[in-house]
Amino acid sequence: MKIYKNIPLKKYNTFGLNYTAECLIHIKTEKEASSLFNGSADWKKPLLILGSGSNILFIDDFKGTILYHELEGIKIEEQKQNKESVIISAGAGVIWDKLVEWTVENGYSGLENLSLIPGTVGASPVQNIGAYGTEVKDFIEKVKTIRISDGTVRIFQNSECKFGYRNSIFKKEEKGHYLVTRVYYKLIKKPLLNLAYGSLKEEVSRLGSESLKNVRQAVINIRRNKLPDPQIIGNAGSFFKNPVVSRSMADTLKKEYILMPLFEDQSGLTKLAAGWLIDQCGWKGKRIGDAGVHDKQALVLINYGKATGKEIYELSQAIQKSVNEKFGVELEREVEVIGTI
Ligand code: EPU
Repeated sequence: MKIYKNIPLKKYNTFGLNYTAECLIHIKTEKEASSLFNGSADWKKPLLILGSGSNILFIDDFKGTILYHELEGIKIEEQKQNKESVIISAGAGVIWDKLVEWTVENGYSGLENLSLIPGTVGASPVQNIGAYGTEVKDFIEKVKTIRISDGTVRIFQNSECKFGYRNSIFKKEEKGHYLVTRVYYKLIKKPLLNLAYGSLKEEVSRLGSESLKNVRQAVINIRRNKLPDPQIIGNAGSFFKNPVVSRSMADTLKKEYILMPLFEDQSGLTKLAAGWLIDQCGWKGKRIGDAGVHDKQALVLINYGKATGKEIYELSQAIQKSVNEKFGVELEREVEVIGTI
């Protein structure tokens, strides 16, 4: 276990913001995590568990402890000859896309539509990450965690995780109470492809046959084309969630805006495309100082270099205001804001 004081956070957040943290603890094993939380080590609250910092916006220096871990390892847990599925597990610190790459190379299907999503395995159940018609909740078997109050291990079965759209128990009632250490996924041994979303099928056929590898490559191509690479330009992917509205509200909006994209879900609610709403308000490609809106996907806010977290936050407020004024729709942030406003 390593403990650092007054550490710059620039490389710990994909917006590239230059704040500091009072304390950062770096751990490499579950044992170290347990001993950190069972009272044998002293640390100052609040605690922020950091994956690769790809879904947070610091707006201030952090006056508490950041936990950064590298819980590694991908394993096959259960593989029976006569079964169609396989159970694999990955340490919470594994880079998400490394796991997806591994599953595709091994011919296990399920996660391929989630290729190139930034972040770590540990964030996948917390956020219930999703893209191109797939949500990770459909492939999570269970989640191993350590309770922060006493260092004990607790397993959450899929049904206990209360998964929703970009949501789970780890973001709601149990927020900040558990450290995810390992995630178990149930994958399919033969290719079972999901090509229904947008232009995915077209991109796959441009590449050749409908194989796992081509689906992964197609998703990578589409993402690279639309989403900025945080290594090159600071961003945290979608800044807002797609708003979910009642069907009657969606019908009313659709009458006025016939081109508005709508995604019906099974529960009688309708998801609107936040990117489209923001785009229609004229924000796409706009820049205020060094804070901006990506020119190929209006759902992504950008730090062109020297923006502060507060400036990005203020830009997000201005966007919320104009979407509300034009469409009567509230945009909720997907990115977690860290600090006091
Ligand atoms: N659109 C516009 N203008 C824009 C952006 C989008 O008109 O500037 C329209 C698109 O043409 C399309 C619709 O809005 O008709 C939806 O856009 P897109 O398919 O790009 O997906 P999204 O709803 O904006 C969501 C996820 C992304 C994920 C994509 C693909 C959320 C908040 N975002 O974006 O996830 O990659 O679908 O599945 O659900 C992330 O969470 O960080 C993320 C990037």
